[in-house]
Amino acid sequence: MAKVVVAARLPGRIDEILAGHEVVWPAAGEAEMPRARLVEELRDAEGLLALLSLRIDDALLDGAPKLRVVANYAVGYDNVDLAATARRGVVVTNTPGVLTDATADLTMALMLAAARRLGEGAAMIREGRWHGWEPEQLPALDLPGAQLGVVGLGRIGQAVARRARGFGMRIVYAQPRRAAAEVEAALEARHVSVDELVASSDIVTLHCPLSPATRHLMNGARLAAMKPRAVLVNTARGPIVDEAALAETLARGHLLGVGLDVFEDEPRVPAALVASPRAILMPHLGSSTPGTRAAMAETAARSIADVLAGRRPAHVVER
Ligand code: DGY
Repeated sequence: MAKVVVAARLPGRIDEILAGHEVVWPAAGEAEMPRARLVEELRDAEGLLALLSLRIDDALLDGAPKLRVVANYAVGYDNVDLAATARRGVVVTNTPGVLTDATADLTMALMLAAARRLGEGAAMIREGRWHGWEPEQLPALDLPGAQLGVVGLGRIGQAVARRARGFGMRIVYAQPRRAAAEVEAALEARHVSVDELVASSDIVTLHCPLSPATRHLMNGARLAAMKPRAVLVNTARGPIVDEAALAETLARGHLLGVGLDVFEDEPRVPAALVASPRAILMPHLGSSTPGTRAAMAETAARSIADVLAGRRPAHVVER
């Protein structure tokens, strides 16, 4: 019987999947295990079901000599120092697939909200500034015929592109390697450079992983190169966008709107973005539907059970 630490109170059949092991949960009433207890529990744990907010690095791993598997409760794994886990032979897994639709749906919600200026319209009513119908009130972006630039045409990027096609948008995408011919054909998607995508798209949506290569991919120069009435959506990871540069870009009236679900230093959201009427901001809710969150938890628990049983889990992060 191995000890498995579950870092937060999560939905799904975790106890059932890990039956036969000692599963350690946060105390009753606690959403998340406090750091001090987590460190204590990890001293003799073989499995860890981790949140994306937990940095898995040498400091944490040094205190967990028996650890065999870290199952990240997310598709992204930029919180894990892969070199540090590799040095110790700790398997790292993630939860791709099960959250694709939920994240793509929230991306569309942000895209539509920013492109149709929902934040500004709602504020007009709430603040008593609406004095009647006018022909040129809050002119929005025409979605049919608009070009959607997808940075990272993986599972989520493709799911967003499929939805956008239903709104009549044209798709271009950028990523280091070209997508499979069937994917390009199904979406009528054209592979372009990041710079071409940024300069020619009406909407830019980010779906690449966070890595040293993508940190501040959307820097001041690229934000300035976007069309003046373009929309930027980020449901991937905050640091892909230079937030200070984005706030400046919005402050000088460039861009029609932005939809952000992720931030550089969560849960801190820069005051300049909060104050911007053109920013639609959400607290990292891309995968937040009960079914999705339960499926993520069960995927992660299954990965831990597999490693503890000597099997290779379905979603090992390759390094
Ligand atoms: C992920 O899975 O990486 C999301 O950010 C959380 O669902």
